[in-house]
Amino acid sequence: MIALGCDHGGYGLLGEIRAMLGEKGMEYRDFGTFSEESCDYPDYARPVSLAVASGEAEFGILVCGTGTGMSIAANKIPGVRAALCGDCFSAEMTRRHNDANVLCLGARVTGAGLALKIAETFLKTGFDGGRHARRVAKITDMELRSDGEIRPRNV
Ligand code: RB5
Repeated sequence: MIALGCDHGGYGLLGEIRAMLGEKGMEYRDFGTFSEESCDYPDYARPVSLAVASGEAEFGILVCGTGTGMSIAANKIPGVRAALCGDCFSAEMTRRHNDANVLCLGARVTGAGLALKIAETFLKTGFDGGRHARRVAKITDMELRSDGEIRPRNV
């Protein structure tokens, strides 16, 4: 299942992404927003991110005006690796190298045609693992040490 969310700035583009997922027969759950009425992007980044972090959703897609607010908010949820992508190469590489599990898009920055290609690329690309798994582990398993530094656990 793909968890979807947007604010008013991303509402139109998310509609196109819903249609694309429907055409491909991919299951999704839309966490809103459900209109172009002004709203706050963290209110939609959070439930989508929690769905991904809990394993309810395999991936999340979040759309706001720039994608920046959504990516900042999503990355606050432990276990979420949200990537703001404006090109297909970044979308492929963030799956292959970062095992990104949430794609953020900026509807006021990236045209719908490109955004759909970016989403398709993100969803079909696997994680390379290997040395990248070690690096991802260093991102996700940080701790505050007694000397006041934040470093990867067990390193
Ligand atoms: C809403 O005006 C806008 O700030 C929002 O969609 C997003 O771009 C925030 O990062």
